[in-house]
Amino acid sequence: MAYPQYHQNHVPNGLNKTKVVVVMVPFPAQGHLNQLLHLCRLIMAYNIPVHYVCTATHNRQAMLRVHGWDPNSVSDNIYFHDLEIPPFLSPPPNPNTPNKFPSHLQPLFNASLHLRDPMAELLRELSSKATRIIVINDSMMASVVQDMGTIPNAESYTFHSVSAFAFFLYLWESMGKTKPLEPKSKIIIPKDLPSHEDCFTNEFLSFVGSQYEFQKLSSGCLYNTCRIIEGAYMDLMEKLENKKQWAIGPFNPVKIIAEKKGLKGRHKCLEWLDKQAPNSVLYVCFGTTTAMEEEQIKELAIGLEQSEQKFIWVLREADKGDVFINGELSKAEILKGFEERVKERGLVVRDWAPQLEILSHTSTGGFMSHCGWNSCMESITMGVPIAAWPMASDQPRNTVLITKLLKVGIVVKDWSCRNQLVTSKTIENAVKTLMASEEGYEMRKRTVDLGGAVRGSMDNGGVSRLELNSFITHITRLLRAKGTNVAFNLKVKSERHASKG
Ligand SMILES: *[C@@H]1O[C@H](CO)[C@@H](O)[C@H](O)[C@H]1NC(C)=O
Ligand SMILES: *[C@@H]1O[C@H](CO)[C@@H](O)[C@H](O)[C@H]1NC(C)=O
Repeated sequence: MAYPQYHQNHVPNGLNKTKVVVVMVPFPAQGHLNQLLHLCRLIMAYNIPVHYVCTATHNRQAMLRVHGWDPNSVSDNIYFHDLEIPPFLSPPPNPNTPNKFPSHLQPLFNASLHLRDPMAELLRELSSKATRIIVINDSMMASVVQDMGTIPNAESYTFHSVSAFAFFLYLWESMGKTKPLEPKSKIIIPKDLPSHEDCFTNEFLSFVGSQYEFQKLSSGCLYNTCRIIEGAYMDLMEKLENKKQWAIGPFNPVKIIAEKKGLKGRHKCLEWLDKQAPNSVLYVCFGTTTAMEEEQIKELAIGLEQSEQKFIWVLREADKGDVFINGELSKAEILKGFEERVKERGLVVRDWAPQLEILSHTSTGGFMSHCGWNSCMESITMGVPIAAWPMASDQPRNTVLITKLLKVGIVVKDWSCRNQLVTSKTIENAVKTLMASEEGYEMRKRTVDLGGAVRGSMDNGGVSRLELNSFITHITRLLRAKGTNVAFNLKVKSERHASKG
């Protein structure tokens, strides 16, 4: 996909004085970059220009990897700003640590704080050309946009990249669980929540802490979720936080613009999927930042082989800070003979996989996932049940939401056994349960129904669409009251081609 050069680092002169512009400030890790790029698409559909601001490397990463829509085809309203930060180290991940948090990205996270000065400059420039600027900043990037406080026509909204469920629990726990909740709501907080141990590094937690100092500057929060899935937790959050909270997801397109068959550019795994029976293929992928130890990779290979189910397994090296210097995972001894033995049934993908297209494909019937929130939302949207294997961060909590509360998945790795190897037998059993049992069948039916409802929430009149409308009305208020037309038009660009239902 070509990078839209013509819109790089460009503040359009013609910015109409009556306009609201949105400035997206993503945190430079794939799950964050991707969600906010998807959000650009939703906002642009209201004819509001969006400025996506990060480093050159990470803007390029986001563009190259986005799937389900083509930013080039809507790029009239999107502007990428490549800001400079000092060079940072991009060490390889260490697969052999018990704590699976991607601590090798910390030098990048630290370096990203240097975005502050160029960001301030850009915000000032934009603010002089628009009536109001709306900064949507990732909660990890608060200090980077702090100078916004000195810009009178700027407002900030925080994007939390995690589930409302996980975020509510963090918040509630950080208040010492003291805030009384309605008796009714106690029921929806499960007992025996997985511990936070090994979810983060201390260094990352202090990084997060330093960002939360700027909490007060935000006018409201946005979530990539839908009230159909997490309404109860959105309600609870509204009670804890004295701020507007909008659930406006799924951010990912709910209908995939099907690429034409046979065209160059369609990933080979999609062509392979075309030839498989409906719901027969398990998609295996643990996100972009997970590094699995060799021994575990071997167990997984054996488990997949013995399950006798079809699969697509994405096996890549975890992202480095700069993904353009990533190497290939050494094929060496790990999978000796495996790919050859399973070639009729399975595909190992070593490059960037079009996850959303895979999940929306009718042949895909299950997803073995680390339960990063991005992946959870994509899977639910496409009606694919999950075999949950959490690695770190909010993933153990998301696993509870997926398996215990929504009942659209089963557990492969239990967080209380996080330091143990998952054996090939456990993997084999989980795969068989999900793909080839009555239980799996019922679960798939439930997930397909939930997916349909969630996709419907983005239709006109659907809950997420209404909340998105309400957010847009909010950020364009006054301007509209004055009668100026901010081209607030609700004509959401209609997406062609139905996805799986
Ligand atoms: C990141 O920044 C923190 C706080 O300044 C510092 O203590 C830490 O050593 C830095 N870590 C890396 C990996 O650069
Ligand atoms: C950006 O995100 C943080 C983190 O939640 C939020 O508190 C803050 O107010 C937001 N905006 C600014 C200008 O810091």
